[in-house]
Amino acid sequence: MKRKAINEMKMIFLSDSKNESFARSAVTAFAAQLDPDMEELADIRTTVSEAVTNSILHGYRGTSGKITVEVKLFDDRSLRIRVSDRGCGIEDVEQAMQPLFTTDKSGERGGMGFAIMKSFSDSLSVKSKPGVGTVVTVTKRLK
Ligand SMILES: Nc1ncnc2c1ncn2[C@@H]1O[C@H](COP(=O)(O)OP(=O)(O)OP(=O)(O)O)[C@@H](O)[C@H]1O
Ligand SMILES: [Mg+2]
Repeated sequence: MKRKAINEMKMIFLSDSKNESFARSAVTAFAAQLDPDMEELADIRTTVSEAVTNSILHGYRGTSGKITVEVKLFDDRSLRIRVSDRGCGIEDVEQAMQPLFTTDKSGERGGMGFAIMKSFSDSLSVKSKPGVGTVVTVTKRLK
């Protein structure tokens, strides 16, 4: 049987790093309806944090733009989180998703964001086009 959506939300905010904790809190508060345990909540927080941070730091590097976060809850206790930006996009998505790959030159980034999002979820999809933007979709089924 196909899973059915039982609730959904969408929010749009500016690519200001102050909004990273806002996005994290908003998504976890919304996902609380599925009654996640502490570990699942931590996974959700981390996933949102990594994706939103990427949009701010990489997508809109040196510029400013809007980030959209959508969350859909399903009747099989799964949720889908989608983080989209209209930033610079990714030239080679497969390469970007490799653990330790980073375009950051400051030495502060470990290139582990996508690897972390992947390990904390059941599926991770990254769609991106240079000059158009990036859409990261993560699904997770709760216990
Ligand atoms: N939204 C995005 N827009 C443009 N490029 C992105 C976006 N998200 C990721 N990237 C590119 O993919 C690379 C890998 O991302 P990933 O999150 O795995 O590592 P990182 O952000 O470089 O380091 P870390 O997440 O460990 O701090 C980034 O260095 C960047 O080049
Ligand atoms: Mg990252």
